[in-house]
Amino acid sequence: MSEHELRVSKIRNGTVIDHVQGGQALNVLAILGIDGSEGLSVSVGMNVPSDRLGRKDIVKVEGRELSSSEVDVLSLIAPEATINIVRAFDVVEKNRVTRPERVVGVLSCPNRNCITNAEEPVDTRFTVIADGVRCEYCSTVVRADIAAHIDV
Ligand code: CTP
Ligand code: ZN
Repeated sequence: MSEHELRVSKIRNGTVIDHVQGGQALNVLAILGIDGSEGLSVSVGMNVPSDRLGRKDIVKVEGRELSSSEVDVLSLIAPEATINIVRAFDVVEKNRVTRPERVVGVLSCPNRNCITNAEEPVDTRFTVIADGVRCEYCSTVVRADIAAHIDV
């Protein structure tokens, strides 16, 4: 790195979501339910150069770890992402995301007539398919913009 490059600061304790597909950083924040009002320290790099991906986004969240359902949904929009857990400035754990077979209780179904949108609450269940997710109740498929259907 040359003296002319700006590096996003290291974090002390928290999570670095690295190798996010360029352009997806704001969707990553949406999945984590972060909009700034929580008061967490968050750094976002968009379209930064990457050896592996050409361009990547990176999200660093101080003082927050991720739940497994958040990681499941992340894998749908950022299949190459690496989740780094940082403690006392060291990366103590590094995991690649994996696509789950199904996502339960995280996404909402866009079909207003779906049983998951009825008054009696039923957990949503989506099967992960090659190009999106399919509602197990009504078979509605969500392909583009999965992040818009997050319900965490
Ligand atoms: N990082 C951070 N704060 C720390 C430690 C690491 O923000 N205290 C960030 C680094 O800037 C990097 C990511 O976490 O973006 C992973 O760190 P590290 O494993 O040290 O980097 P690499 O070896 O380059 O990771 P990879 O092999 O996954 O590309
Ligand atoms: Zn449905």
